[in-house]
This record gives sequence, C-alpha cells and structure tokens, in this order.
Amino acid sequence: MKVLAIHGSLRRDSFTGRLARAAGAVAGDGIEIENYENLGEIPGFNEDLETEGLPPAVEDLRARLAGSDALLIVTPEYNASAPGALKNAIDWASRPHGNSALAGLPTAIVSASPMPFGAIWANEQIRKAFTITGTPTVERELAIGKIDGKLGEGDTISDPEVEEQLGMLLTELGDLAETVREAEAGALDPTAA
Ligand SMILES: Cc1cc2nc3c(=O)[nH]c(=O)nc-3n(C[C@H](O)[C@H](O)[C@H](O)COP(=O)(O)O)c2cc1C
Repeated sequence: MKVLAIHGSLRRDSFTGRLARAAGAVAGDGIEIENYENLGEIPGFNEDLETEGLPPAVEDLRARLAGSDALLIVTPEYNASAPGALKNAIDWASRPHGNSALAGLPTAIVSASPMPFGAIWANEQIRKAFTITGTPTVERELAIGKIDGKLGEGDTISDPEVEEQLGMLLTELGDLAETVREAEAGALDPTAA
C-alpha cells in the first residue's frame, strides 16, 4: 500500500515534517510512505484557474494523490486552526467538484505541537473538512503534545509511546484502505447483489 504523507509546516526543521518522515520507519510490512515536500509551491486557491489551467504544483499534488492508496496528514496548529498552507492544499485537492482527488481516499490524521494539547483543534478542523470532501478517515485521534521532546536525531522518533501510537494508526489506515477497496470492488461487480 502506497501512502502519501503531507505535513502542514513549511519550516525547515519542522517537528511535523520530522514526524512525517519518521513514519516510514514505524509502518508495518506492506506500507510504503512517500513524503510530500512541496507544500510551499502551491499557490493560493483560485477557482478561475480550474478553467484557465491548474498550476503545475497543483497538477503534481493531484497526480500524487491519485497514485496513492491512502493519505497521511501530519499537521501543526496555528492560532487554534490548521495551517493555511495545508488547508489551501486540501481545498485544491478537493476540486473540481465531481473529480476530487480526496473523495474516497482513505486518510489518517496526526497532529503535533510543542504545546501540551497536541494541536487537537487543527486535527479536528481537518477531520471536519474531510467529512465534506468525502474522505474516509481513520477514527483514532492522534494528537501528540510536547513533540519537541519526543523526536530523536534527524527524522526519528525517540518516544516509544509515540512510535507505538503512530504504528497503530498506520495499521488502521491499512485496514481502512482494505475496507474501502473491497466496498469499491463490490460496487463495480455487476454480479453482486
Ligand atoms: C502563528 C503561530 C500560531 C501558533 N498557534 C499555535 C496554536 O494555536 N496551538 C499550538 O499548539 N501551537 C501553536 N503555535 C506553535 C506551533 O505549535 C509551533 O511553532 C510548532 O513548532 C509548529 O510546527 P512545526 O514545528 O511543524 O513547524 C503557533 C505558532 C505560530 C508561528
């Protein structure tokens, strides 16, 4: 299963970026994670460009989503909300209406912050957006507080509990992807009742 991991920070040494890059090491067998690092290239959403021609960075994001079996969002929180750059990418990916790159794409959401509450409001805000975009989402709510003390050198996790929780979330993402795949296969099967 191929998972695209998008983290919501543009900062070079971003905690959420490091966490997203560490996810590959805790994912179980059969889960391959590609990290999306181009969030900063996506221009502000403009509906006119849907008819005039999508920006190349948006085309690239949509192609990567289409080529993935599942999506992992790793978000920080700005002013009790999801970062604008991440919400902007979600808005682009949700369009055009009827051809959304997010519809039916199994997704798991992780939020993290150096503050104790783990960016839970950003987590909930993205989850709410995904109810509208038709994006099936793993129920487990993983909000990691005090993330600055839970990462190791480079792109590693030093906290065993975070490692375990992220591993479980990815396993549940795999299960959700399987359920969605089976439901789609059933819907396409003309012999199914
Ligand atoms: C404009 C701004 C607003 C912030 N608001 C919040 C907030 O509401 N909740 C929170 O937990 N942290 C908040 N923070 C602190 C971020 O959690 C912190 O900067 C974090 O390191 C950002 O994630 P990153 O390390 O992935 O870049 C804010 C930071 C900035 C720059």
